[in-house]
Amino acid sequence: KPQLLIDTDPGVDDALAILMAHAHADVHGLSIAAGNVGLMHTTRNARTLVDLVGASTPVFAGCATPLVHLPEEDAAFVHGRDGLGDVGFPEPKATAADEHAALAILRLTSEHPGELTLVALAPLTNLALALHLDPSLPKRVKRLVVMGGAVTGHGNTNRVPAEFNIGFDPEAAHVVFEGFPDFDLVDWELTLRHAFDEDEFDQWLAAGDHRADFFRRVFQVARETSRRRGRRGIIAADALAMAVAIDPSVIVRSERRRVGVELDGRLTRGATVVDWGGRLGQQPQANVVLELDQVKFRAMVRRALGAERLG
Ligand code: BDR
Ligand code: CA
Repeated sequence: KPQLLIDTDPGVDDALAILMAHAHADVHGLSIAAGNVGLMHTTRNARTLVDLVGASTPVFAGCATPLVHLPEEDAAFVHGRDGLGDVGFPEPKATAADEHAALAILRLTSEHPGELTLVALAPLTNLALALHLDPSLPKRVKRLVVMGGAVTGHGNTNRVPAEFNIGFDPEAAHVVFEGFPDFDLVDWELTLRHAFDEDEFDQWLAAGDHRADFFRRVFQVARETSRRRGRRGIIAADALAMAVAIDPSVIVRSERRRVGVELDGRLTRGATVVDWGGRLGQQPQANVVLELDQVKFRAMVRRALGAERLG
C-alpha cells in the first residue's frame, strides 16, 4: 500500500482526494494549510473527514497566512464559506494534534525515511516552511506530488495565468520548486482535460455509501458555481493529484521540464513558467503530467465513494 502524508486545505476536491487516500493507501497525517478558506475552517474540515472515514489519521494545523504577502483571493465561491459547501456539519470528534504542520512533516518523514509520498493539495506554505527549517527534507521523502500551476498559462485566478495554489503563496511555491530536485506536477489544465461526465458522476453518488452521500452534500455549491460559469463536467483537481500519488502507473504521458514561479509581474505574479524548450539549461525538476488513464482514475474515485460495483 502507498504510504501518504497529505498537505491540504479542504476544500471539496481535497475532500474527494482524502476519501481516495483512505480507500487506497495508508495515510500518516493531514497537514493543514490556509487556502480555499481560512485555516480554522480547513482544519475543522479535515477533522470532519477523519470522522467520516472512521480513521485515526492525525490532523496538524499549519500556517494561517502565506509566507510573505497576504492573499488576494480565496475560493469560498467554489467551496462554500466554510470550505465544505456550507452544509453545517456538527463539531467533529477527531481533534487536531498539538504540533505545527511543518514540524509534523519533518518528524514523520524522519520516522519513515524514504517511505512517504508527500501529496501537496494546497498552497505550499507548510512545505516551504518545513524545507526552510530542514533543507534535507527532499532526501527523506519517497516522492512529492504537487497539485498546482497552469503549464500553458490558462489559470483559474484573477491573475489570469496563475493557478490558485501557486497564486495564493507564490513565494512558498518558489521555495518548494527550487528545493525539491524531483516532483510530479499535476496542473489545472490537466484537470480541465480530465473532467467527469456529470451524469456518470451522479450515478456514482447515487450508488455509493455514506461517503457518496457526504460528497453529494458538500458538492452543491461547487456545482452551482461551475454551472453559472457555463462549465460542463465535474472538475476535481486534487483527486487527480491523489491518483498520481496512489498509483504512478495512472500517468499515460508526462514530460520532465524545469518549472519556475513568477514572483513579480504586474499581470503574472503566481504564474508557473515551464521551460518547454530547455532554453535555460537548468536541470528539469518537474515531471509535468499531461495525460492520465481515465479508466484507472475513475475506478479509484468510484471505490473512494463506495460505488465500485458500477465498474
Ligand atoms: C486547487 O485550488 C483549490 O481551490 C483546489 O482545492 C485545488 O487544490 C485548484 O486550483
Ligand atoms: Ca486544495
